[in-house]
Amino acid sequence: MRILRIDSSAQTETSQSRRLSNRIIDGLHALGNSPDVTVRDLEKRLPQLDRAWIEANTTPIDDRTDYQRKTLALSDTLIAEIEAADTLIIGVALYNFSIPASLKLWIDLVCRTRKTFVYSEGKPKGLMSSPLNSSIDFWFL
Ligand SMILES: Cc1cc2nc3c(=O)[nH]c(=O)nc-3n(C[C@H](O)[C@H](O)[C@H](O)COP(=O)(O)O)c2cc1C
Repeated sequence: MRILRIDSSAQTETSQSRRLSNRIIDGLHALGNSPDVTVRDLEKRLPQLDRAWIEANTTPIDDRTDYQRKTLALSDTLIAEIEAADTLIIGVALYNFSIPASLKLWIDLVCRTRKTFVYSEGKPKGLMSSPLNSSIDFWFL
């Protein structure tokens, strides 16, 4: 079992969502599993999408400059973290009736047209699958 754990709370020791994620992972250990856990803590802030990023993303891969490739490198890393996992545990604090802005930044960086989704018949269609499993489990806490 390869877990990608996303923490989105701005709080650390006092965070309930982090406690819940800890409990799930501890529970898996208690059941005899040895999950391989990668943690992406969004308390370490991700950059906001900007014009350079959008231009790089909409430039065909073979035409991208080195600068554009560098601009997309973090997004590539975040997507690779998802692709390497068969289970995602996403700890979500509720801020002002919505998800934390930190989690929205992560979503913006992993939603890449023609890489992680395409529009097909007017609807978005996901392109990602896990190497271990044809589908990825999402656990939202
Ligand atoms: C800035 C801020 C905004 C919040 N907004 C809401 C809200 O709109 N609705 C709600 O039910 N709780 C709200 N809460 C309470 C949090 O959802 C609650 O404290 C939760 O435990 C946060 O997750 P965490 O403990 O993992 O940080 C808010 C808390 C903070 C700090």
